[in-house]
Amino acid sequence: MKPIVKETRVDKLFDFTDKVTLITGAGGVGEAFARGYAKQGARVVLLDVFEKSCLNLIAKLNDEGLEADFFIADVTDKAAVDAVVREIADKYGRIDILLHTAGVTRNKRCTEFTADDIEFVLDINLNGTIYMNQAVANVMKEQGGGKIVDIGSIGGLMSHMDCSMPYEASKAAVHQIVKTFANELSPYNINVNSIAPYFIRTPMVEHQSQEYKDASYALASLGRWLEPEELLGAAYLLTSDAGNAITGQILAVDGGYSAIKSMYVMR
Ligand SMILES: NC(=O)c1ccc[n+]([C@@H]2O[C@H](COP(=O)([O-])OP(=O)(O)OC[C@H]3O[C@@H](n4cnc5c(N)ncnc54)[C@H](O)[C@@H]3O)[C@@H](O)[C@H]2O)c1
Repeated sequence: MKPIVKETRVDKLFDFTDKVTLITGAGGVGEAFARGYAKQGARVVLLDVFEKSCLNLIAKLNDEGLEADFFIADVTDKAAVDAVVREIADKYGRIDILLHTAGVTRNKRCTEFTADDIEFVLDINLNGTIYMNQAVANVMKEQGGGKIVDIGSIGGLMSHMDCSMPYEASKAAVHQIVKTFANELSPYNINVNSIAPYFIRTPMVEHQSQEYKDASYALASLGRWLEPEELLGAAYLLTSDAGNAITGQILAVDGGYSAIKSMYVMR
């Protein structure tokens, strides 16, 4: 039976003090998560395929008086993922939270994607998510619970971007992976959810042309892209006691983009 939390104080519900928080991807979203959780007193551990990305981010955090550790692994390598997650669990004694942000995209017309393009995107976004969830879930099962958040995308809910077919397919798969893991892990007090964001101003998309950006700003209810920090509220909810009764959900953080289609908004 799941423990019941009847806490009503915000500071207790959202207490991340000493929570071992594993963040895959030291990119734009990973950086915002690392800074946010470190500021809440969590013990932040980064995992990325590029050592330089981790070192650069940790240097920035250290300049701000914050700390994080890092490990290197390619999330497409199941054996490496299993080994590194076990190493982290051994070093810290547990893994309370997984924020899985590592992901990639490639942009071409549907008819032009090569087998290599498709494999590259699916391997990282789809297989990588499965491998990370499996490895961390095994640790969380042993310790009696935990919280997993996999970053999906509005592109996994609807086809809203040109030239992103394998990416959108991979994110739809992430949303389904989350539901299946949530179902099976629920008896172990492990919550598994996804955040599905609209465009976020990070290195993944910043290279897009101004024309592309203007078109996507015009479509967004916010009139702009998200800042990476704007995902933190959803992440805090889904990884804290405040989210104990939430699992298997795809939480769109998109300013209403996926739900609201209005021709004209009265301002
Ligand atoms: N930026 C957006 O507009 C947007 C919108 C919706 C969803 N997302 C999703 O948010 C997540 C974070 O994206 P971001 O914008 O921070 O991207 P980013 O490119 O800034 O960061 C991605 C990070 O993942 C790491 N990574 C890539 N392949 C890896 C691998 N094989 N093993 C380990 N690490 C690997 C990269 O090194 C990088 O540090 C992704 O899952 C992305 O699909 C992004």
